[in-house]
Amino acid sequence: MPEQTFILNGEPVTVDVEDDVRVLWVLRDILGVKGPKYGCGINVCKACTSHINGKAFNPCAVPVGKLGAKDEITTIEGLPGEVPESERGEHGLHPMQESWLDNDVAQCGYCQPGQIMAAVALVKKVRAEGRTITDGDLDGIRNICRCGTYTRIREAIREGEQRM
Ligand code: FES
Ligand code: FES
Repeated sequence: MPEQTFILNGEPVTVDVEDDVRVLWVLRDILGVKGPKYGCGINVCKACTSHINGKAFNPCAVPVGKLGAKDEITTIEGLPGEVPESERGEHGLHPMQESWLDNDVAQCGYCQPGQIMAAVALVKKVRAEGRTITDGDLDGIRNICRCGTYTRIREAIREGEQRM
């Protein structure tokens, strides 16, 4: 089988797997990284949302053969490592994760890793555009929450943006 090399949460990884296997299965089934959740598998629910080179993407929709050795995948497990220790909160987590805890966002929790990864990517995107998050930006988040935590998600993102 072909060798696939990419960077996962700051470390290079190499796996033996066919090119057309989706990145979500490589993460979960081969590398044991379970933060990105399997919801639909067809790029709709966004439960698997992670980052590729700092931008949100859905690993259920990307074949692993498309990744290059320099592509950086970050999952919720690697999110705290994106900020210096001094900027992590009382639980040692990324500021957005700390905001999630303070706002008691999660119900069943299944969608929440994807929601947090979408939130961080959104803050980075609007900062790069020289602005802050608007209601329209929040309306544009497509991550589905079966438990209906949308109001608290929006509050946590607003607060997390201030902390980042
Ligand atoms: S599992 Fe990836 S978008 Fe639904
Ligand atoms: S908290 Fe249950 S699906 Fe979102």
